[in-house]
Amino acid sequence: MRVKQLFSLEGKVALVTGGSRGIGMLSARGLLEYGAKAYTSSRKAA
Ligand SMILES: NC(=O)c1ccc[n+]([C@@H]2O[C@H](COP(=O)([O-])OP(=O)(O)OC[C@H]3O[C@@H](n4cnc5c(N)ncnc54)[C@H](OP(=O)(O)O)[C@@H]3O)[C@@H](O)[C@H]2O)c1
Repeated sequence: MRVKQLFSLEGKVALVTGGSRGIGMLSARGLLEYGAKAYTSSRKAA
């Protein structure tokens, strides 16, 4: 079994607060890469 299948987040939904940059953004990208739907929040819309 491939690692991505073993740790698949397919069908999961995540909310990463402070996900617009830095550690939060890396976390959100990792969640997406493993199949989750990820939402982020921050103060600045950009
Ligand atoms: N980078 C490191 O090496 C490191 C090491 C140890 C600990 N930490 C800690 O880990 C955390 C994340 O650090 P980081 O370097 O990844 O990024 P960061 O520059 O501290 O920003 C992280 C996120 O938090 C949001 N944010 C900042 N102030 C906020 C507030 N008052 N209310 C709501 N959202 C806020 C930012 O977006 P907006 O500004 O748009 O809101 C951004 O999306 C920090 O607490 C930092 O002290 C970082």
